[in-house]
Amino acid sequence: MEEKRIFAWKGRVLLLAMMGMVIMAAGQVFAEPPPKTEDPCIVCHLKATPGLAADWQASLHSQEGIGCSECHGDKHQTSKDSNLARLPDEHVCAECHQEQFDQFAKGKHNLGWSSLNALPITHMEPDILMEGGKGCGGCHNMGIKSEAQKKDQLAKGYRYQNNSCDECHTRHSFSKKEAQDPRACEQCHMGYDHPQWEMWSSSKHGTRYFVKQGGNLPQKAPAPTCQLCHLPNGTHENRTAWGFLGVRLPLPEDKQWAADRVTILKALGVLDPETGKPTPRLEAVKTLDLARLTEEAWKTEREAMVKRCTACHAEQYARRQLEMADEMMKHADRLMAQGIETVAGLYKDGTIKKPDHYAFAYPDFLYFKQTGGSYIDQVLFRMYMKYRMRAYQGLFHVNPDYAYWYGWAAMTKSLGEIKELAQAMRATHKPAK
Ligand code: HEC
Ligand code: HEC
Ligand code: HEC
Ligand code: HEC
Ligand code: HEC
Ligand code: HEC
Ligand code: HEC
Ligand code: HEC
Repeated sequence: MEEKRIFAWKGRVLLLAMMGMVIMAAGQVFAEPPPKTEDPCIVCHLKATPGLAADWQASLHSQEGIGCSECHGDKHQTSKDSNLARLPDEHVCAECHQEQFDQFAKGKHNLGWSSLNALPITHMEPDILMEGGKGCGGCHNMGIKSEAQKKDQLAKGYRYQNNSCDECHTRHSFSKKEAQDPRACEQCHMGYDHPQWEMWSSSKHGTRYFVKQGGNLPQKAPAPTCQLCHLPNGTHENRTAWGFLGVRLPLPEDKQWAADRVTILKALGVLDPETGKPTPRLEAVKTLDLARLTEEAWKTEREAMVKRCTACHAEQYARRQLEMADEMMKHADRLMAQGIETVAGLYKDGTIKKPDHYAFAYPDFLYFKQTGGSYIDQVLFRMYMKYRMRAYQGLFHVNPDYAYWYGWAAMTKSLGEIKELAQAMRATHKPAK
């Protein structure tokens, strides 16, 4: 009996092995390398840039017969004339993807390049980090460039970065799945002043996503991604209620908060520090949609976000979470205004001399670290750009450590440092004769 079973088992293995060989042989016939292509671009590029060509071969574009020349034109034909290849901008994608193009054009991403160039700091830093795309320009290559912007770029010797559609679904796979993965946002939404990747990935929302990926939660377990909250239902239009600078109009009813926000708007150079009247920078804020300027504009985005939360949470739970984040901004603004006023006092009594490139004898955040004023200006800028951002963004992204230690606590420490520095500067300052 025992022997019989073993024999039957061995027989089955033999049979399976024989079947396997037949299948493999058949595989040799069917799994031929992909049909020989006649397309000269691909023939040559399979040798010239094999990784790139393989990436394209694996794409839906390749399956749909969208070849290299569809995007790059056919003027370049040899290894020596590759500068004749067209580097396609977003309008080329729009020829076949008008809907996504139109959505993108209406969203905040479309303003990335223009808002970068609107800042005075941008024109003081090495071009490589801007037009060359190796610093600010590496993340701000978001937005359809105007003809003038393209000319400027070429004139400075920068030929690439003509397309922002390849920032989330990268070339040449142009994959939808890649863009649906939160890692597609990581390169840009991380770090110093907008660590959304770090906050989300170490929050319960992100943890769930990774645990689910590891197979330890059921596939149906909810785990919200950046895309779910910010680009829902496949839309390419993005915008948040507060926006990056964390200021908005009209001013809040709370008198202290309103006064603190005015102080911040002065340090952003949007209000004249002496008269309190709007400066030309307010126009730029409007054109570039840097802040919501009406109650309605703000509420529209807020209500849309609440709706997204209620896919999983109770409405009153979600609303309360977001309100707490707003309130946190009020506290953060109180600290921020004290910091700004302390440094502004040094400008006022002449301890810090107005830098030539400043419009006013007042701190100016839009010069980032190139304050031209003094070290205390850099400490103040860091308090705004690094710590205030974390203090409120940490609440919105459900991350306690960012909200407290990296945000609020660091702001408190900065204020201490600013007061200490101000005192020392006054004590050692020699008035000009
Ligand atoms: C005979 C070989 C050959 C053929 C045919 C060919 N390429 Fe190329 N191509 C190259 C090589 C080599 C380079 C890299 C040149 C360099 O970096 O100096 C290149 C570069 C490029 C670039 C980059 C251009 C840039 O500005 O850096 C693009 C885009 C491109 N090819 C697209 C195409 C398309 C589209 C076709 C077909 C219409 C094509 N190639 C046909 C060899 C070829
Ligand atoms: C759906 C449009 C599209 C198709 C199809 C396409 N490309 Fe591109 N390709 C782009 C875009 C967008 C860029 C980036 C342009 C820029 O930086 O300004 C690019 C850049 C390149 C570059 C320069 C960047 C690098 O990594 O060297 C090469 C070379 C290139 N493509 C070759 C090819 C080849 C070969 C094919 C066909 C196998 C192909 N492309 C098919 C859109 C496309
Ligand atoms: C000549 C037409 C054509 C052009 C030009 C074109 N595409 Fe496509 N693209 C298609 C077709 C066809 C499909 C497959 C069907 C669909 O999803 O619409 C596709 C699919 C896609 C997908 C979805 C892939 C997936 O995994 O589901 C993305 C993303 C994409 N294209 C991005 C781009 C970008 C970015 C550009 C410009 C650099 C571009 N396409 C240019 C025709 C085009
Ligand atoms: C190549 C860099 C880059 C990538 C990748 C990127 N973003 Fe952005 N994002 C930006 C820039 C730059 C801005 C600011 C645009 C501006 O100046 O108006 C921005 C703005 C936003 C805003 C609007 C914030 C506001 O002020 O209201 C949201 C929301 C957003 N991105 C979400 C995402 C999501 C989700 C992903 C991934 C699917 C993503 N982004 C991928 C660079 C990027
Ligand atoms: C790591 C990528 C990255 C770098 C580097 C970067 N930015 Fe940004 N920038 C972003 C993202 C992402 C946003 C949107 C963040 C948000 O809304 O929280 C943004 C927002 C902005 C905004 C506000 C846009 C708005 O509408 O609110 C301005 C202005 C700006 N950046 C300018 C700059 C300047 C100037 C530099 C270099 C000195 C720079 N950025 C460097 C990614 C980057
Ligand atoms: C901020 C990241 C981001 C940028 C930039 C971006 N996309 Fe997408 N794209 C996505 C995401 C996320 C999806 C998946 C949407 C979904 O879940 O249905 C997607 C999907 C697509 C699809 C597939 C649509 C479908 O349902 O099959 C196309 C086509 C596409 N994008 C074209 C574009 C074009 C054209 C541009 C430039 C104008 C662009 N994308 C820029 C994030 C981006
Ligand atoms: C559960 C939903 C949710 C997820 C997931 C999420 N966010 Fe947010 N995000 C928010 C909310 C809420 C705000 C604040 C909106 C407002 O201004 O009221 C926000 C704000 C932002 C802003 C603007 C920040 C600012 O400076 O005011 C950006 C940019 C952003 N998120 C990017 C991301 C990225 C990138 C990811 C993924 C790494 C992500 N978010 C994940 C809900 C989410
Ligand atoms: C796709 C489902 C989903 C969406 C959408 C979603 N969440 Fe969550 N959220 C969860 C899950 C799951 C958890 C972890 C389990 C729990 O604590 O309920 C969680 C946890 C939280 C927590 C932490 C609770 C704790 O005890 O620490 C807060 C706060 C929160 N979410 C707020 C929000 C807000 C605000 C939004 C909208 C901007 C939102 N969530 C959108 C699924 C979601």
